[in-house]
Amino acid sequence: MHQKIVILDFGSQVTQLIARRVREAKVFCEIHPFHAGLKVCEGATGIILSGGPASVYVPGAPQVDAAIYKLGVPVLGICYGMQVTAHVNGGKVIKADEREFGRTDLEVLGDDPLFAGLPKSQMVWMSHGDRIEVIPGATVIAKSANCPLAAVHAPALNFRGVQFHPEVAHTQFGAQIIGNFLTKVCGCRGDWTMGSFIEEEIARTRTQVGSEQVILGLSGGVDSSVAAVLLHKAIGTQLTCIFVNNGLLRAGEADGVQKLFADHIGLKLVYADASERFLTALAGVSDPEQKRKIIGKLFVDVFKDEALKIKQSGGGHVKFLAQGTLYPDVIESISVHGGPASVIKSHHNVGGLPADLGLGLVEPFRFLFKDEVRAIGSELGLPDEVVWRQPFPGPGLAVRILGDITAEKVNVLQKADLIVREELKKAGLERVIWQSFAVLLPVKSVGVMGDERTYENACAIRAVTSTDGMTADFAHIPHDVLGKMAGRIINEVRGINRVVYDITSKPPGTIEWE
Ligand code: XMP
Repeated sequence: MHQKIVILDFGSQVTQLIARRVREAKVFCEIHPFHAGLKVCEGATGIILSGGPASVYVPGAPQVDAAIYKLGVPVLGICYGMQVTAHVNGGKVIKADEREFGRTDLEVLGDDPLFAGLPKSQMVWMSHGDRIEVIPGATVIAKSANCPLAAVHAPALNFRGVQFHPEVAHTQFGAQIIGNFLTKVCGCRGDWTMGSFIEEEIARTRTQVGSEQVILGLSGGVDSSVAAVLLHKAIGTQLTCIFVNNGLLRAGEADGVQKLFADHIGLKLVYADASERFLTALAGVSDPEQKRKIIGKLFVDVFKDEALKIKQSGGGHVKFLAQGTLYPDVIESISVHGGPASVIKSHHNVGGLPADLGLGLVEPFRFLFKDEVRAIGSELGLPDEVVWRQPFPGPGLAVRILGDITAEKVNVLQKADLIVREELKKAGLERVIWQSFAVLLPVKSVGVMGDERTYENACAIRAVTSTDGMTADFAHIPHDVLGKMAGRIINEVRGINRVVYDITSKPPGTIEWE
């Protein structure tokens, strides 16, 4: 089995970046809240203590069990992780006269393996208001003008600490410093690849599922698609994928999914056409939250019905629900601020799975980041159009039709949306853009086409760049591309006579309009 690094999170905004750097060095890692204690460190090859916003000397500040330094496993403390180490081992941390923030010149002293192969003078990123005066038994291995203990080695504690942040991109050799900790200090082999992940996950899923039946909601999005193919490889016909057509999909989506997964890949796919059911339930509903609730509940109902149908047709009792839950969702739900019991199950792809669904969860990607799932998708042979697909919200076009929803409005929006996608693709901007789509507005305006007056709806084009969907900037699409989109929409889509471009960033806006 692969080696594992445990990252204890003290509430830093960038703890996930530590995990990214470790994974990039091909070493598996898990993030746990600091209070998860010694138990989660069992079997670790190394431990990393993250940064955090607190001051260690303030009552109630997050602490670490000093027994961690006696496990015989190397520990790396980053910023707060270094300060807390000093604090619990009889050292001294005080408020600094001056906060140190931003790019700082670091001078490396001696030849500690943490800085092996790196220049003696380098740029690092600092962000701290406290300063370590003493760590018992520690040797200074790097300093900066304002920080005499910028990096230390304390052999008796099996500890190395850095006051700066090697996980952020601004630290010149940050990835190499973390890499040195992993390979030169912890002795990690760096053999955790997507190929090895696939093999391990297939074996793990077979053990978890045994001979039971599993259903998976296949939306056609990256996560559920890759999960479907991986699980198909693991358990073959024990997996039934359910594709729910809720009548709120993008143009061509239902056919595309059917062709690829059933015809080409050959997995068991149930096509549940529930479009009338959804549109009927949504008729006359304008409130965004109410729309979401109705859709979430109906998804669950359709799932339950399909599971029952499988049983009734002699396909066996469905015991598991598979989902493409990703690691950031899992981390969020067990964050430093959530209690240890505030775990995970609430995360799902379909918008509201009740606790009483009565199915066990199979979540092959609950330890992976999105780009790792994409890499697995490519490794499993999924085409680029699927692997690089833009995120699409569970409630679909319902949250892109402002006001009440009708089949006719869905049809109008699908056409406009397809034009946005086609023109973006032609302009070669698909991969640069995080999401791009059309929104149908409940606003009518006057126009003129030929010699005739028109009085039709307006449509907004929304396109954003982002790395994770949490923050986003409106995409600076060239005006001629926007012009082509607008021209085609007005000419080709009856019902829309005006197009506007949304230039709101997130925050303060959100990506979707509802
Ligand atoms: P917002 O609009 O909150 O969206 O800025 C952030 C990202 O999440 C997607 N999104 C959803 N995805 N179910 C989903 O699976 C949902 O209910 C949902 N709402 C928003 C959105 O498309 C964007 O990528």
